[in-house]
Amino acid sequence: MRSWLFSYPAIISLLLLVFGCTPDDSLTVYSGRSKALVEDLVKDFEEESGINVNVRYGSSTQLSMALMEEGDRSPADLFWSQDAGALGAIHRADRFEQLPEDLLGKLPEEFQSRDGTWVATSGRARVLAYSKSRVDENDLPASVYDLTDEKWQGRVGWAPSNASFQSFLTAMRASQGESETRQWVLGMESNDAQVYSNNNALIQAISAGEIDLAITNHYYLFRYLESDEDYPVDQTFFEEGDPGNLINVSGIGILNHSENKEAARQFAAFLLDEKAQKWFAEQNFEYPVIQGLELTPDGTSLEDIRQVNPELDLNDLEDLDATLQLLREVGLL
Ligand SMILES: [Fe+2]
Repeated sequence: MRSWLFSYPAIISLLLLVFGCTPDDSLTVYSGRSKALVEDLVKDFEEESGINVNVRYGSSTQLSMALMEEGDRSPADLFWSQDAGALGAIHRADRFEQLPEDLLGKLPEEFQSRDGTWVATSGRARVLAYSKSRVDENDLPASVYDLTDEKWQGRVGWAPSNASFQSFLTAMRASQGESETRQWVLGMESNDAQVYSNNNALIQAISAGEIDLAITNHYYLFRYLESDEDYPVDQTFFEEGDPGNLINVSGIGILNHSENKEAARQFAAFLLDEKAQKWFAEQNFEYPVIQGLELTPDGTSLEDIRQVNPELDLNDLEDLDATLQLLREVGLL
């Protein structure tokens, strides 16, 4: 009888024991997500897996440009992006590896690339924030298009230089068309929409009485509510499918030149595990993107946000340049 010791898998394990490392012992991640949010999660992964992770932080756009420039010599095994647009750019360049079915099966199809080359890791929604005291709930606009109505003249805030606003506008161009989007932007300008530098400033401006409505990301208000539950601002979605409700995602893909694909798949799977998904919700008030996990910051379920989300291929958010050009042409940048 053959001893187990001489069986094939045992010999391989023995060799691994003797020679120690495999190429999978370390990973390099290019992260457009901030260090403050990501660092502890990465540490957890290192402890659980024994895989060492090097992270290069930067803006998602900068990192995607670096990946393009470095080509196959890039040290990156994974690209973890803050938004779908930068993932779309790498996807278009055919630089991502196909992800395994068991991973893809964890998320609804609108939160992954249609060809299965990247997956969302968490979601954030565009919403309408409004003053609790100066806006009657029954008067709330049903669509982002209604914000150009003279009823809201001078009362709406927006942040044209903010990356999330620009993603929303890129989505609007992709789903509604160039001329309709331009019309809307011009309509907002002539309705005296008030320009602010970022989403925090928008929420504060509502609270201070400078404006009554603002288009922003969903998680900012939660930060104010955390320290003051009577904060005088509330928020809502527009009607189902409205372009103003865009659900944008952070997401991750494995680069096809990586020599550490197994470890890279482990890392991606770790981010879609319940533990990490809860982390995003608790630390950043983001929406978990895996099916069957009902934990959300405000009682809105994944099904709810899927309902309101406009129909769109998130890879289309790649075309940021034309959005920036539009904003420059109308004097908003
Ligand atoms: Fe943000």
